[in-house]
Amino acid sequence: MAIQKNLYLTTMTADPLTRNSSAYQVLDSFLVQCQQRVNQSLTQHLDRDIPSKSLRTAMAYACLNGGKRIRPLLVYGSVQATGGDLACADNAACAVELIHSYSLVHDDLPSMDNDDLRRGKPSLHKAFDEATAILVGDALQSLAFQLLGEPIPALDPGMQLKMVHVLAEAAGAAGMVSGQSLDFQGSGQKFNLTMLEAMHRSKTGALISASVKLGALSSPRSTAAQLEALGEYARNIGLAFQIQDDILDVTGDTKTLGKPQGSDQGLDKPTYVSLLGLEAARAKAVELSDKALNSLRAFSDLAAPLRELATYTVKRMH
Ligand code: IPE
Ligand code: IPE
Ligand code: MG
Ligand code: MG
Ligand code: MG
Repeated sequence: MAIQKNLYLTTMTADPLTRNSSAYQVLDSFLVQCQQRVNQSLTQHLDRDIPSKSLRTAMAYACLNGGKRIRPLLVYGSVQATGGDLACADNAACAVELIHSYSLVHDDLPSMDNDDLRRGKPSLHKAFDEATAILVGDALQSLAFQLLGEPIPALDPGMQLKMVHVLAEAAGAAGMVSGQSLDFQGSGQKFNLTMLEAMHRSKTGALISASVKLGALSSPRSTAAQLEALGEYARNIGLAFQIQDDILDVTGDTKTLGKPQGSDQGLDKPTYVSLLGLEAARAKAVELSDKALNSLRAFSDLAAPLRELATYTVKRMH
């Protein structure tokens, strides 16, 4: 039985996030292109033979549900910036979004952030149940590595092995999972700036850095200097992205965010806003965005989506 595609696709039409702003000449259309590519690929991959129909329905609920697709955009933006072909990066773009979607499903669980709303709809454990939410996370994570390991004729197998290693390192105990562990232990605790930065770099920055790296590795033309510059770019926007997320928890509204405003405050989480205050948090995010822009100075106009994304990261409203 094929997934009832229309059921999901109706809620995930491509979303130009930056509408009406002259600051973004190319980001809107590039983002729509990335959203369409990754949504189409994810829909196909979820159409595989999955014996548990309820698991498959819940997996589709978790990832075909209107996320912004910033991490796929970073994969495609990096492959384009290094002169590669977007089609070579489709599986990598799906893989990072699958890891991200799984992390959100687990992040919302009652034993973690206990949030009932995600991407404007009931969180997965609310729409289904907690056991399904745990299993969906497990399944999305495995699917990510399954896709990354699928042979791509234009890519060298040794390079694909490297890509699997990059994603595993970023998603696991060396990256995101440790970040989530630090976050979970941090409720009600006093963090200093060094601890907070380490937490944010792990829980959010690691996957953002992996997205950029996977894009660059998908391009046979990328050079060591480009990889280094893109790594610096990702390190800066990765932290800026989570600082802006902390800011929006205070200044956003639940409807626009599609997730509960005030969640961090409710759980007494250490955030850039709780530690530095709103203005200093904003200034830090802008400083990081400027650094990210600067690290792309040697790239041609092919890097325009990444440049505009650096600005969008700290101006976004959701
Ligand atoms: C939310 O990420 C979780 C963080 C790591 C800050 P996004 O803001 O990218 O969420 P979606 O994918 O658009 O829902
Ligand atoms: C989530 O951070 C980071 C990961 C899921 C790895 P948050 O808990 O701040 O994300 P939101 O605000 O719920 O999206
Ligand atoms: Mg969390
Ligand atoms: Mg959360
Ligand atoms: Mg948050």
